[in-house]
Amino acid sequence: MDLTLKIWRQKNAEDKGGIVDYKVTEISDHMSFLEMMDVLNEQLINTGEEPVAFDHDCREGICGSCSLHINGEPHGPDSGTTTCQLHMRRFNDGDEIYIEPFRAKAFPVIKDLIVDRTSFDRIQHAGAYISVNTSGNTQDANSIPIPKADADMAFDAATCIGCGACVASCKNASAMLFVSAKISQFALLPQGKVEAAERAKNMVTQMDLEGFGNCTNTGACEVECPKGISLENIARMNREYLSASLTTAE
Ligand code: SF4
Ligand code: FES
Repeated sequence: MDLTLKIWRQKNAEDKGGIVDYKVTEISDHMSFLEMMDVLNEQLINTGEEPVAFDHDCREGICGSCSLHINGEPHGPDSGTTTCQLHMRRFNDGDEIYIEPFRAKAFPVIKDLIVDRTSFDRIQHAGAYISVNTSGNTQDANSIPIPKADADMAFDAATCIGCGACVASCKNASAMLFVSAKISQFALLPQGKVEAAERAKNMVTQMDLEGFGNCTNTGACEVECPKGISLENIARMNREYLSASLTTAE
């Protein structure tokens, strides 16, 4: 298929940036979206132009780096799918496809389609850890009884890949789905109880410092999340935060 790509080009954080049109031809239905981008970049390199900068690593839906806004949706039109798992058969010959970076104050553009998501790392550093020593001292899996329902919910929360689609889809650029997933994966397990109060307070404080907006229960984050992280995690985070605020000193 032949396509017109309308891609956001921006030299650096200071550059104003803008949409540039490119044509790509003979794109196979079987290609992934990122392979189609590779074809474009080969074309640009062959004609002496600067290739389009975009983030990617695993190309298996695991690392969370392929953060593209495609036709107005984070990771494109398919639900439960990262950009690297999106296939060109989802598009039609002659389509125009808009490709832009994730937009949020806390995700400044570095170049073209690459945004700086280290704000997520700083939120994780503020509390997404446990002090229970597990290294070199592996215990039998059944020595700490954990209800199956709790283990399942903790596992589901832990599947968050930190891609930022929740932020990009939110009208408030809220990071609450991401932060709540990271808090929930510990809050539901006994090993996570030791730092529970500090974790909730410190991660929420860091989230606010980074400039993310507040949640207004719109739910776009849950719809666009490639890993199906549930809004229930936000309710759990709010309970954790309230309980921490009531039980710990400032
Ligand atoms: S909650 Fe979902 S959309 Fe947000 S960072 Fe995690 S995986 Fe990505
Ligand atoms: S490149 Fe790793 S999730 Fe897409």
